[in-house]
This record gives sequence, structure tokens and C-alpha cells, in this order.
Amino acid sequence: MSNESNRREFLKQSGLLTGGALLTSLPSFSASYGYNQSVDDTIKVALIGCGGRGTGAAMQAMNTKQNIKVVAMADAFRDRLDESYTSLTKHPQAAQKVDIPDDRKFVGFDAYKQAIPLADVVILATPPGFRPSHFEEAVKQGKHIFMEKPVATDAPGVRRVLAAAEEAKKKKLNVVVGLQRRYQPSYREMIKRIHDGAIGDIVGGQVYWISGGVWQKPRKPDQSEMDYQMRNWYYFNWLCGDHINEQHVHNIDVANWVKNSYPVSCQGTGGRQVRTGKDYGEIFDHHIVDFVYADGTTINSQCRHYEGTYSRVDEMFLGTKGKVEGMEKRNSALMTYKGQPIYSYDAKADASPYQIEHNELFAAIAKGDYKFADAERVAKSTMTAIMGRMATYSGKMVKWEEALNSQIDLFPDKLAWDAMPKVLPNADGLYPVAVPGKTVTV
Ligand SMILES: NC(=O)c1ccc[n+]([C@@H]2O[C@H](COP(=O)([O-])OP(=O)(O)OC[C@H]3O[C@@H](n4cnc5c(N)ncnc54)[C@H](O)[C@@H]3O)[C@@H](O)[C@H]2O)c1
Repeated sequence: MSNESNRREFLKQSGLLTGGALLTSLPSFSASYGYNQSVDDTIKVALIGCGGRGTGAAMQAMNTKQNIKVVAMADAFRDRLDESYTSLTKHPQAAQKVDIPDDRKFVGFDAYKQAIPLADVVILATPPGFRPSHFEEAVKQGKHIFMEKPVATDAPGVRRVLAAAEEAKKKKLNVVVGLQRRYQPSYREMIKRIHDGAIGDIVGGQVYWISGGVWQKPRKPDQSEMDYQMRNWYYFNWLCGDHINEQHVHNIDVANWVKNSYPVSCQGTGGRQVRTGKDYGEIFDHHIVDFVYADGTTINSQCRHYEGTYSRVDEMFLGTKGKVEGMEKRNSALMTYKGQPIYSYDAKADASPYQIEHNELFAAIAKGDYKFADAERVAKSTMTAIMGRMATYSGKMVKWEEALNSQIDLFPDKLAWDAMPKVLPNADGLYPVAVPGKTVTV
């Protein structure tokens, strides 16, 4: 059997031959790498968004037991793609699993369209503003998907992801999303026990991402506004959705998981107290939100970026019979209110949840199993975080349905290096910032 025909056989058996999976086929690889010597069982991966997380995710894909080849890369910027390629090929063992000649390195806003057809599985790890369009394209082309959280930055984006998630289900495409706590054995075990009633009904809780903040890249002379915002994506809502969305979605998703539902409304407060200058775009540096669930439970959420202050990234929940604190800790425990342990979990020997996500995804793909459909629930947890931002920016009570149906679209009308995003600096270089009581968000 020729290499390409035995790879086709593997793809058929593994369920990879779905949708347009082989519409564009690369020349097949000459060697088979150990997983299954009788057929060419190569699973081809394309990396879209070659920054820190995308590069890490590609490494984790290559570290699975399956026979992985990363065959294409796409990034908005050439320098980011080159840095990632250097990292991916630094270690000789990893380099064997990278086969990306220059003509499979794609750069620019449309780069994803060129890379996606070349793969069986795509890793989507750009800033989240692009996730809806990239996810739609990957689903349209019948690819299995690992994508990073959050999956959108505004309600129209969430609706697009929800629609594409339905398509992905129909096509039986495995979709794993990088809310890695869902793949972390300690969370899985503790939350299973919470759902089984170990601490009674959950009647309250608190979720936190309070930390020092992230990087900022100085403006360069003659840099276009689009280039500046793309390089500093964290500080612009069309790209990032604010840190309540970009980071705190992890903890908000844990609250939704514990409650097994999504909030019906929220209200909150927030603003810019420390990070006020022109280098910080339009996002707030703190948000505090009460998320209310249909059964009346309120989960309070806090996120802030203040350098040099107390930091905490975790969750606590109060049940009618007991509580859990510090879910992120390696030895977290369900306790009675008198401090007696109900159940404790020691996570010392557990693998990294980032690696587990990929181990489980690629094992399912290789076996032809359809096991993962994360997109819908992550779209809804993303919507929860966006609803929190709508509440802190507006100062109003926001209801789920009105938030989800919001027509406010943050994305630029045109994507090009000389096109203008919708939010622009004033003559002093300062960007407009939401003013609670005045800003309209739904
Ligand atoms: N699960 C986690 O714990 C975790 C950790 C870090 C980041 N993330 C998520 O991963 C994503 C990327 O974050 P990061 O830290 O790697 O950021 P990053 O800035 O290091 O990487 C983003 C990359 O995407 C590229 N890019 C931007 N727009 C693009 C486009 N339209 N097409 C192709 N490439 C484009 C950028 O040039 C950059 O190389 C974000 O959604 C972030 O929230 C998740």
C-alpha cells in the first residue's frame, strides 16, 4: 500500500476523514513513527496563532503518544511565527515532529485560511477576538480542534461560536477548549463529589483572579494603529474582551461547572484605579461581579490587576453541609464548617492539565472516537464573563438573554494594517474608557 493510501486508511478508521479533511492533501511523510507501524498514522496539525500559548499547545500535541506532525503555521506577524518555529524545533526530538517548510508558514490576517486545509487537527491560539471566525472556518473544513479560551470578546462572537459548535457536533468533530481545569484530575474529582452532594446544595461562593497584570509593548514611531492594537491585544476589547474575560473566565467557568448552569443575571462594579495611562488601552484594572443563578445562588467574582498587592487565583464554594476553599491547591479538601475533612485530594502526582487536554484529544482522534464537544459550554462561560464586563462597564443589572442578544459588535469593519479599529486614542493618546452610569453595553 502506498504511504498516502495507508494514511487514508488510518484517517478513515480514526474518523479523521470527515468533512473536508483531505480536500487539500500534503505529500505524505516517508516514515511512520512508532504508534502504528503498519499504516502511516500521522496526524497532521496546523498551529494558528504562534505566541506563547500556541507554541506550548503545539508542544503538548507533539508530546502525546500519537504520531503527530506539525505541518503548517499561521500568524499575523512574521516575527512571532519565526520565534515559535525556533522554539518548536529547538529540541531534536520535537524537531522530528515539525515539518514546516517556508511555503507552509503563512503570515497576515488571512493566514489561517491557508493553514487550516493542510491539517487534520488545528490549534487555534490567537487573541480571542479572532476565535469565532477561525473556529467557523475550521468547522467548515471538517477539522478536529484544540482552541484556547476565551472563545469570543462580544455577544455576536459568542453567537457565531454557538452556531459553529452545533455544526461541529453534527460533523462529530472533537473540540477541546483550553479551560484546563476541566481536564485537571483534582477539579474533576472534587466537583464530581460536590455534584454527588458531599457538601450539600451549593448556596454561595467566591471566584478570584487577583494578580499583578500582564505585559505591555511600547508604541513605535510610525506604527499603524492596527499594528499597535494587535501587538497590545490585551488592552483592547475587540481582541481581548478585558481581563475578566481573558483570564477570569477560568474561575467563572468553575463556578458554572459547580452550579451546573449559567447565571441568569449579574451586577457589578469596576474601573481603572492603578493602570490608568495611555499604555493600557481601554480595559479596566478591576471588576467585582455578583453572578446570580436561577436557584437564587449568588457567586461573587473578583478580578484585578494591581502590581505589588495580594494575589489569589482560585475558587471557594459554600454548601449546606460544608465548604471547599482553595480549589487550585494541590491538596484541596471538602470540609465541614467545623473544619473536619469530608474528602481531600492530593494532586502531587498528577500530570499537567495542559498535557492531559492533548493526551485525551489525540487519543480520541486516533481511535476514531467522538468524545469532546467543549465549544458550547465554553461559549456560554465566555458569555458569562462578557456579561460581567457589561455590568461593570454600564453599572446596570444585566440579564443573560439581553446580554447574549446584544448587537454591539466590537470587531473592526475592515481588517488590514492600515484600517482603523473602532476604538481610537484622543490627541493625548488616551483611549475612551467605560463610565458606569453612562456607557451602554447591551
Ligand atoms: N489556558 C491557559 O491557561 C492560557 C494561558 C495563556 C494564554 N491563553 C490563551 O491563549 C490565547 C493566546 O494567548 P498568548 O498568551 O499565546 O498570546 P500571544 O500574544 O503570546 O500569542 C498570540 C499570537 O497570535 C497571533 N495573532 C494575532 N492575531 C492573529 C490572527 N488574526 N491570525 C493569526 N495569528 C494571529 C499573534 O501575533 C501572536 O503570535 C489567548 O486566547 C489566551 O487567552 C490561555
